[in-house]
Amino acid sequence: MRKKLLAANWKMYKTQEQTANFFREFIPMAAAHTRDEIVICPPFVDLQTAVNAASGSHVAVGAQNLHWEKEGAFTGEISAGMLTSIHVTHVIIGHSERRQYFNETDDTVNRKLEVALENGLTPILCVGEVLEEREAGLTEDVLRRQCVRAFNGISAKKAAKLTVAYEPVWAIGTGKTATPQMAVDAHLVIRHEAEEAFGEDFAQSLRILYGGSVKPDNASALMSEREIDGALVGGASLDPISFTKIMNY
Ligand code: PGA
Repeated sequence: MRKKLLAANWKMYKTQEQTANFFREFIPMAAAHTRDEIVICPPFVDLQTAVNAASGSHVAVGAQNLHWEKEGAFTGEISAGMLTSIHVTHVIIGHSERRQYFNETDDTVNRKLEVALENGLTPILCVGEVLEEREAGLTEDVLRRQCVRAFNGISAKKAAKLTVAYEPVWAIGTGKTATPQMAVDAHLVIRHEAEEAFGEDFAQSLRILYGGSVKPDNASALMSEREIDGALVGGASLDPISFTKIMNY
């Protein structure tokens, strides 16, 4: 049985004070929750506040992005080593908003994935099709391409901590959710690509999350699928009560 992972992607929301307030409410509600792994991914400037607030609990803290170089003249960027130095343990890689608005490509996603793994971070690699691709029947092709290129040159041994999130772009922030069956079908494509790249045992233990308008009222249906190993939650993770309801699916 794969332990599910519930990840909060806060995107560009919350100041340090708002982050501290969230954790003050959330940590007591999450204290007894050991069924699933929980990770909160706030903006960079809130990471230290989050790490401090989560310390002593089993709630982990993740970043939303990183750069593939160790250090250097890369204005505005943050390295894997900087994240691990403040005890950040997870990192979202290749979110569709980064691919769409910040020119991230399958190649940069691959480099980021590699460096995250090298530094012992648990990457949450995002893949997913846009609406036009789904309507044109290209969902499988897109998922295959994104996985093949992301996994390129990475060994199964190195990839051990890999986590993937299937996030159909048309479902993100739109209130439209993939049906559990649509998510399951996509997950099977991703799991197959993981098997091709890393072998069967690896693929069977790989966690694949679903993301895209996960809310308290649809979490149970999605999470009851054996093939869905957790959720990457945007909007509904900003409020501690709403995220707790999802956690308690
Ligand atoms: P959403 O975002 O839950 O607000 O749709 C999910 C995501 O972008 O990770």
